[in-house]
Amino acid sequence: MKNLTNEKIEKRIDDLLAKMSLEEKVGQLHSINYGGEFTDKIKNWLKKGGAGAMLLVDNALAGEAEAVRVSREKINEMRRFALENSPSKIPLLTCRDVIHGMHTTYPIPLAQASAFNPEMVRECYRATGEEAKAYGVDVSFAPMLDVSRDPRWGRCIEGPGEDPYVGEVMAKAIVDGFQDGDLSKDTSLGACAKHFVGYGASEGGRDYNRTEISEYTLRNVYLRAFRSAAESGIASAMSSFNEISGVPATANRHTMQEILKDEFGFEGFVIADWLAIYQLIRQGVAEDIAEAAALAKNAGLDMDMADDAFGENLVALVNGGKVSEDIINDAVRRVLRVKFALGYFDKDSCEQKIEYDMDAHRALARRMAGECMVLLKNENATLPLSKDTPVYVCGPYAFDKRIINGSWAADGDLSYSVSVADGMSAKSDKVCFSNDRRELSVQDEILRFAPRNGKQTVVVVLGESDKVTGENHSVESIEISAGQVDLVKRLKRMGNTVVGVVLAGRPLALTEAEPYLDAILWGWHSGCETGNAVADIIYGDVNPSGKLAMTLPATTGQIPLYYNVTMSGRTSDAYYGGRFVNGDDEKIYGYNNMYDDMSACPLYHFGYGLSYTTFEYGAPVVDTAELSLDQINSGKAFTVKVKVKNTGNREGKETVMCFIRDKVASMMRPIRELCAFEKVTLGTGEEREVEFTLGFNQLSFYNAENKRVVEPGKIEIYTGADCYAEGNVNVKVV
Ligand code: GLC
Repeated sequence: MKNLTNEKIEKRIDDLLAKMSLEEKVGQLHSINYGGEFTDKIKNWLKKGGAGAMLLVDNALAGEAEAVRVSREKINEMRRFALENSPSKIPLLTCRDVIHGMHTTYPIPLAQASAFNPEMVRECYRATGEEAKAYGVDVSFAPMLDVSRDPRWGRCIEGPGEDPYVGEVMAKAIVDGFQDGDLSKDTSLGACAKHFVGYGASEGGRDYNRTEISEYTLRNVYLRAFRSAAESGIASAMSSFNEISGVPATANRHTMQEILKDEFGFEGFVIADWLAIYQLIRQGVAEDIAEAAALAKNAGLDMDMADDAFGENLVALVNGGKVSEDIINDAVRRVLRVKFALGYFDKDSCEQKIEYDMDAHRALARRMAGECMVLLKNENATLPLSKDTPVYVCGPYAFDKRIINGSWAADGDLSYSVSVADGMSAKSDKVCFSNDRRELSVQDEILRFAPRNGKQTVVVVLGESDKVTGENHSVESIEISAGQVDLVKRLKRMGNTVVGVVLAGRPLALTEAEPYLDAILWGWHSGCETGNAVADIIYGDVNPSGKLAMTLPATTGQIPLYYNVTMSGRTSDAYYGGRFVNGDDEKIYGYNNMYDDMSACPLYHFGYGLSYTTFEYGAPVVDTAELSLDQINSGKAFTVKVKVKNTGNREGKETVMCFIRDKVASMMRPIRELCAFEKVTLGTGEEREVEFTLGFNQLSFYNAENKRVVEPGKIEIYTGADCYAEGNVNVKVV
């Protein structure tokens, strides 16, 4: 556990708390938002020490509005005002949604998860931390750790995808990036684990909808990334809008207090999401805002957001005996911990002058984008193209510089954005496109420019706008648009070689277009350097190595569709296309893909991604076939080794994955569970032995008693390229 605090800080907090009035304590639990003007309302709150944090956010849908612009000077002015007017001279905390970049935008988090390169993710968030701190941000409302199995939900783009282990890895990488191991460094800022908890299970993929989550699934799927964030010493967390099986997350003592704080040892503060306390009235668990404030406070929420619920009600609630001062003191301690950890009682946070190297940040953004992109199809080695090949670039997003940054990129400096057309033109003088460089209708595109001789290679840039992703943007259908399918079909029917580049935030269903594409590069919304990174891969300067962190269904109707599914008692493993049906099943039930009218197999499964080279795997080997439960519980682990060889004709990176299956346990366990991965770079012909160490953390799960346990029995281990990996070895726990 990386502690957020230490004895010295705790002592200083004790001394400070002893001096503070109840009013001032409550002030620390109240946040105000800056909407672009240093208003009298803000000043009045600050005058009496009545606000502990200021959100540099100006509306409920910060992800899509142009961010409120505020200068560092203005932030410093407000900080000074707060300090001068604070009876106990407590500094103000500024917060902002810095989700995947500041002026330099990096790929959306779901894309970064698909790089399977946590060290590079950490670097991106370290660089972002420099830019955010220079701007004057003390806490960023990231990482978003909501595991999601439903790509209709626009916010899946902000998270780690469908796998809890990837969620754990992303949590640590982003916390380490932002907090840099020591919050007191000038360029470190606090991170915020959100949205606590289960928001990704929104029914129907409809944002803000209810979630029905059993304790078993809550613990084994949705909580794991937050446990990792707590263990990484994260400074804050944010309660979510959703209810969890009838109890709103923002009033949920079981999750916020009993699990996050008591069980996971989280030492920071929990802030509500925007108006989430007020929304308890709408959710039907409070009569009015005062009752909502009492409910949330007693459930373990530490700070309000945008509804003044705590700022206006907690003093009266304490005086009225509805909330104890002990609970207030614990919450204030948590907020002060972050402020002490940031060093704000020992240095003037207004005097920090932080410089950073923008060119280096953009170069990193380009590398990260190249690591995230996923090569889904490459018939007859269509790619990479020669720079001497005449290429016609077209499609609705060929020239776009905005959507490539994705949602929650309002701070991005678009002057840095590179479109696909620009990226490709920068590499080859054989690139042509519609002269007026604007989005043409499908008909125009066809009639006006696409060649009729069928000898040309066409790169068609498809996907979705960032405006249908992120908060408050869910879709009923994830099918790629009919116009785009029509364009692809027509281009192919002319006899062209057609390369599809898909710039999307969420998984889209490409089934209709797929047969007409000779190659498909899944480019995500990969930030300001998307165009250069696409060109790097198209022309072979970068060998693609991304793998899907979220399943690409064949159709919307298949959703929810995810790899870490438990085995049905009657039908086979539809996600796995019958791979695990054995003779007996065949006789009794036959292979049943669970629909009469459609396969239940994804178009592209979890972990899938091609390279310009090929890799071969040996069989996994374990250093012991048997371990006792006592050995595992006392920390003993075993190793799994697997050889992987680059059998192609160029260097490449390969993410080697290790899955387990606990086939007989006290609760049903998934057919495959990712428990470790390593991305290796192999030269032509090079072979490497990759080693995984598996122990309690990798084998344990939460049982029916909500205890994290390893149970006796056979554990199947699978190693390989993706969730269909077949290299198998067993270890027995006795
Ligand atoms: C929004 C989002 C949350 C964000 C907060 C502040 O509604 O749900 O992710 O951090 O409000 O902008």
